[in-house]
Amino acid sequence: MNESERLFEISRRIFPGGVNSPVRYYQPFPIFIRSGSGPIIRDEDGGEYIDYCLGFGPHILGHSFQPIVDAISSQAREIISPGTVNRAEQELGVMILDAVNEEQIRFASSGTEATMHAVRLARGVTGRKLIVKMEGGYHGAHDYSLIKSGSGNLTFGVPSSEGIPPEVSSTVIPVNFNDAASLEAVFRTKGNEIAGVITEPVMGNTGVIPPESGFLERIRELCDSHGSLLIFDEVITGFRFHYGSFQQIAGVRADLTTYGKIIGGGLPVGAIAGPQNLMRNLSPAGRVYQAGTFSGNPLTMRAGTVALEALRKESYEKIDLLADYLLSSMVDVIRQAGFTVTGNRVGSMFQLFFNASIVKNYTDAMKSDPGTYMKIFRSMLKEGVYLAPGQFETNFVSFSHSRNDADKTIEGLVNAVGKIGEDRGKRK
Ligand SMILES: Cc1ncc(COP(=O)(O)O)c(C=O)c1O
Repeated sequence: MNESERLFEISRRIFPGGVNSPVRYYQPFPIFIRSGSGPIIRDEDGGEYIDYCLGFGPHILGHSFQPIVDAISSQAREIISPGTVNRAEQELGVMILDAVNEEQIRFASSGTEATMHAVRLARGVTGRKLIVKMEGGYHGAHDYSLIKSGSGNLTFGVPSSEGIPPEVSSTVIPVNFNDAASLEAVFRTKGNEIAGVITEPVMGNTGVIPPESGFLERIRELCDSHGSLLIFDEVITGFRFHYGSFQQIAGVRADLTTYGKIIGGGLPVGAIAGPQNLMRNLSPAGRVYQAGTFSGNPLTMRAGTVALEALRKESYEKIDLLADYLLSSMVDVIRQAGFTVTGNRVGSMFQLFFNASIVKNYTDAMKSDPGTYMKIFRSMLKEGVYLAPGQFETNFVSFSHSRNDADKTIEGLVNAVGKIGEDRGKRK
């Protein structure tokens, strides 16, 4: 029994399912990570892995990026979380607002909080009840997100969670991503009751799915013509493809936008941004309540500021090209080994779908074979590569990954698929 296995026996007794967030679990037991630097994470047994999960997205600069470590250490010596207004929150707030061209921002401590409060704000402002979301879209683990949700909700085969009363779930209408007709049908019948549409502009919790040309524009038009608000959940996509939001690239502006992950430099964070006429409805300026003990804490704010300062100087083309090279090589290796696979990529986000067809929405993604993905995931662990631990998660390339890391990953994949092929041969 190795150290991870031994530790997981202990975790099983302490935590439900042995984990503190479901997607961290995989069979037979998850490896315990002890340290990391740049693209590398190290486990409790001395194993090293090139990491493409990157903490599910925040570490776009790599693990324990030195300027962030320094900023956290020096801020911790000053104060950690006074629960008061502070300069550090102003600094990060202004940086984000300038970059994404918004008027106001409210910080929270997770993406879940940000989207939950954005939904409340949309309802409060419009005085309407219904929220439209995408099938397979994930906006955190609150009641209004867990309706036909993505991420662990798909991996663990729970279409939506128990414990959500029908009075709540009946206020959320799922539609198909990249399917304007399904959205138009909902607006035709319920248009004047819809408070808002919430969507990830690039789906990142059903694997990676790019928006088709015209789809985001169509959501915008339908919201405009029915007085509904458009909420883009940019918790994954914010500062991922350039120094700003995805909507700036797409040319479609949301009314409210949620952020998280990257903007906290690796510490817990969330945020809602938008124009003053909407944002001023948040308490204490307005009558929509939103709060958090740790919101805007200087530790996170400093980490986020330093991360954004570094990102402002980076050329994102570098990670896009590396992800392109990596994914196309991985797809070639897997196909040559006789598997059917489709690769989806947007910038530095990518995923492999064990699926014959093009994946443009949840229905297509569900045709994939998560079993084969997990076989590859586990074999890659033995090769020293940590992929996202689920077919419906996203792999990320960070600025710390090099061409050499990509080449080692591809070499590892050749061995991994070879071994899976041998096993298949033996079983026949
Ligand atoms: C698009 C999106 N929104 C919201 C969330 C929730 O963020 P958090 O896990 O910080 O609560 C996630 C988490 O993965 C996400 O991917």
